[in-house]
Amino acid sequence: MKKLLSAFQSDQLDLNNRIVMAPLTRSRATGNLPNDMMAKYYALRASAGLIITEGTAPSPNGLGYPNIPGIFSQQQIDGWKKVTDAVHANEGKIFIQLMHTGRVAHELNLPEGAEVIGPSAIAAGGEMFTPEGLKPHGMPREMSLGDIAQTQAEFIQSAKTESKVKRANRRVRWRQRKQGSIRAGSGGADRARHRPGENRDSFVPVRRVQ
Ligand SMILES: Cc1cc2nc3c(=O)[nH]c(=O)nc-3n(C[C@H](O)[C@H](O)[C@H](O)COP(=O)(O)O)c2cc1C
Repeated sequence: MKKLLSAFQSDQLDLNNRIVMAPLTRSRATGNLPNDMMAKYYALRASAGLIITEGTAPSPNGLGYPNIPGIFSQQQIDGWKKVTDAVHANEGKIFIQLMHTGRVAHELNLPEGAEVIGPSAIAAGGEMFTPEGLKPHGMPREMSLGDIAQTQAEFIQSAKTESKVKRANRRVRWRQRKQGSIRAGSGGADRARHRPGENRDSFVPVRRVQ
């Protein structure tokens, strides 16, 4: 127990304790947008050493569960900034989980123009929650090599977006420190452990490809 609650330090990451919150899809992202309710939810859990967010889609085709967030539109990025700001304000750390639902999806959950895709035209067993209740998974369209390259590119783009969020957060924190709005000494020990130029931000991608 003592060890669980002790700080963790590495070259890349410092955590206040060793408790990591597992990714949990909550299906609260109406319109696939991270919102105030999600910011509150994650802020309330910021005392974990590290939060891993719910699975977050890198593209419209990856949104096959009901009301899951994405990170490919500006509105979604702005929504995630609210979430990370709220967690950072409570001195928490948060990683995003990039998740494409692939064939474990239902078309009723997808936005217009998106489709259920998978490695083969074989439907997944089981059912998926939809706005019309539980439905069997649909038949995916078999991905072409072009689709696979496109999906890879979507993951890369989302990871880069997260880096942008990270940089934006760093600028905000720098401005806040400059304005003295962060209490004196906050993060000082953390800063002291890092050399300039080291990656010490908390919003970095965790990838999960189905
Ligand atoms: C409601 C619910 C939502 C979940 N959402 C995700 C998810 O978005 N991404 C993921 O990788 N795992 C997800 N999981 C799996 C959990 O992160 C965890 O791995 C699983 O519950 C097993 O952990 P446990 O043995 O401690 O229960 C979810 C689990 C539950 C119960």
